[in-house]
Amino acid sequence: MRYIIALVMSFGLFGVPVQAESVPLGQLLYDNHCTICHTSVVHVRDERLANSLSEVRRQVSRWQKHLALNWDDSQINAVLQYVNDTFYHFKRDVL
Ligand code: HEC
Repeated sequence: MRYIIALVMSFGLFGVPVQAESVPLGQLLYDNHCTICHTSVVHVRDERLANSLSEVRRQVSRWQKHLALNWDDSQINAVLQYVNDTFYHFKRDVL
């Protein structure tokens, strides 16, 4: 029994942080909260709404508000950076 508890604890201590460190915050937040409704396709469709980095920021801010996530600037910026690096590729003038 003691052995099992020690095993579970060691996974708790060493397993989770390693995984969390290897995934960037922006991707973690995006995957957890934003892919419920849309896949990444929404960001690369022809008629996309966001045609500048500040517009992407507005959309990220809009959606986190809509979901009542209460993100601060650093969380919004992390997701903005993630979706920009991954899908939009705008020049980083406002980051
Ligand atoms: C309740 C469903 C839903 C959730 C949850 C959601 N979105 Fe969206 N999102 C949409 C829909 C629908 C659109 C396209 C139509 C629109 O914007 O009205 C969209 C569009 C977008 C766009 C603009 C895409 C373009 O056209 O360039 C961005 C950026 C975006 N979402 C980011 C996010 C982020 C970041 C989150 C998480 C905080 C999120 N969304 C969560 C439904 C959702």
